[in-house]
Order: sequence, then structure tokens, then C-alpha cells
Amino acid sequence: MAKQVGILTGGGDCPGLNAVIRAVTRRSLATGWEVVAVREGWRGLVEGRFQALGRREVTGLLPRGGTIIGTSRTNPYKQEGGVDKVLENFKHQGLDALVAIGGEDTLGVAAKLFEEHELPVVGVPKTIDNDLSATDVTFGFDTAVSICTEAIDRLHTTAESHNRVMVVEVMGRHTGWIAVMSGIAGGADVVLIPEHPITVEQTCAQIQKRHSAGSDFSIVVVSEGYELTYESGEQRAVDMGGEDAFGHKRLGGIGDALASEIEGRTGYETRVTVLGHVQRGGTPTSRDRILATRFGLKAAELVDTGRFGQMAALRGDEIVDVSLEEATRELKRVPPEWYAVASAFFG
Ligand code: F6P
Repeated sequence: MAKQVGILTGGGDCPGLNAVIRAVTRRSLATGWEVVAVREGWRGLVEGRFQALGRREVTGLLPRGGTIIGTSRTNPYKQEGGVDKVLENFKHQGLDALVAIGGEDTLGVAAKLFEEHELPVVGVPKTIDNDLSATDVTFGFDTAVSICTEAIDRLHTTAESHNRVMVVEVMGRHTGWIAVMSGIAGGADVVLIPEHPITVEQTCAQIQKRHSAGSDFSIVVVSEGYELTYESGEQRAVDMGGEDAFGHKRLGGIGDALASEIEGRTGYETRVTVLGHVQRGGTPTSRDRILATRFGLKAAELVDTGRFGQMAALRGDEIVDVSLEEATRELKRVPPEWYAVASAFFG
């Protein structure tokens, strides 16, 4: 009887997920495996929801955003008997291996299940936030940065025509990768991120400097995880209320808070654009499709050769494998050198 590999996608949806599903499925079928979708992330294993994947199901997926097998932020470790159900359903379905495609939360669960229960799982690093360690980049990030860059380009038009300060709030959770990269690509005049929190006073000074040098508009990119930071040392976070099963607070709202500080302190008309889930939606860039495809092929190879507890990763131009434990140990934050590239153009 053919061996069976399951595939699940967990956490926020992300451009390129379907390209990974296609690559894992195509390569696994070619090497004699049967492929089964686990519906909606870890929830599918807790509830025993599966669906066969064949060549036909994965046709036409490269340009498609989202995930055809559904996703959720279910954490089996936070549910009564959740882990036992995962193990039972895995066995009951007759699975021999699992490919978990996700970010720090989904892969954190995979790492624990491998470590504590020897679940035969391999990982694929997904997230628009690009905050996973042990890989140079995650798929989905390039698309998010492209979307934000295009938005910044478009906002320049209004900023310039109306002499306004335009604040653009982008995602990224506790890291500022999206803000820094789109800020560099779009020519932001100030970029605010959680790792290197410049103050509200410094931000206003940079904008005023621009204005006194003859530029009547400014583009400020702020990462959702930035907290209003003042010269006095005080920091103020915006509380949106709500928390997910992994203990993450719902973020958002910093753009508005920052804009009223800027307008109040400088007197310049200031408007806000929150890009929100637009950053995760729609078709992946060709770069993300290619990366997702290479990750998917690597994951299928790890499964076929029985190298469990590993994750596909990009190092330089090469696809390698690293341990899930290493990949989920700590977040990959924006180093000062990258922030310096963005800040070279402030003011
Ligand atoms: O991790 C991806 C991400 O888009 C973060 O940037 C953001 O904070 C979060 O997910 C939003 O999650 P949700 O879609 O559950 O609101």
C-alpha cells in the first residue's frame, strides 16, 4: 500500500501557500505517495477532517492567493485533549508523514509534536512578516512588500498634491521587515518599527526638517507593532483588545495614534492609510511562487527520505534544511544595518 502524506496550512493566509501545496503534491505523487489535505490547519487534525489531493486538485494553483485547504489559528496545546486528538486522528487516517506550512505558531506546534511525540513532520516557512529564524526569507514576504511599495507610490501622489503627511500602517507583528523594505523601496521619509523605536519627537523633527528644506509633504511608514515612544522614555501601545490561541494580541491602530501626534505637534495636515489584509491577499509575485515551489519540493524530499523534524529554508540562493527547533527558537528581527538603509533617507 502507498504511504500517505498529509499537508496542512496554519496561521494567517499568505500568497504562495497554494504553490507549496502544488509542489508537495506533485513531487509526492511522482515518488509514489498518496497525498491528503488536512483541512484548516491543526483544527483538521484535532477534528479529523481530511480530503484527498490528486493532480487535478492542484492544477492552476500557482497564481491563486489564499489556501485551497483552509487555515486557522487553532492551537492543539491550548485545547483539552487537543494533542491526543491530533495523534489519534493522524493514526486513524493512516498518515505516515505530515507537511506543516506555517509561521512561528504553526511550526512551533510541529516542533513540539516532533520533540514530544516523534510525530513525523516537516515544516515550510510561511509568513508575510518574514520573522522566522533559520531562513533568509519566508515566502509571502515579497508579495506583501510589493503591495506596500505600490501603495506608498500611489500615496505619494496625494501627499504631494495636497501638501499632506501620509501615514501608512503596515503589518509585521513584532518585527518591522515589511515596513523597512517597503519604506526603502517606496522612499519613505520616516519608518517606525518595533526593533528600533525612534521617538515621536524625532519623527516630527524629521518631517519639519523636510518642510523647511522645501518639501511640503512626507510619507511615514509605521509597522503595526511600533509603540508610541517619547523622549521621556514613555512608551504607549494601542490596545485593540482580543488575543488569539497563541497569545498574540490583536494589533492595529498605531497609524491613527501616530497621525494625531504628528498633526497636533507640527500643524501639518496628516492622513492615515491602513493597508491591513490587502497585504496578504491576491496573487503571489513570481519570486514568491518560485520560492514556494522550491520549498515544497524540498519538503517532499524531506518526507520521502524520512528526515523529520526539519524545515525547508533559504540560505543565500540555496534551499537547505534546518531543524524546526532552531527555526522556532526566536524571532528574526530587523538588524540595525537594515534600519540604517531606510534611515539614511529620513528627513
Ligand atoms: O502573521 C501575519 C499577520 O498578517 C500579521 O502581520 C498580523 O498582525 C496578523 O497576521 C493578523 O492576523 P489576523 O488575520 O488574524 O487578523
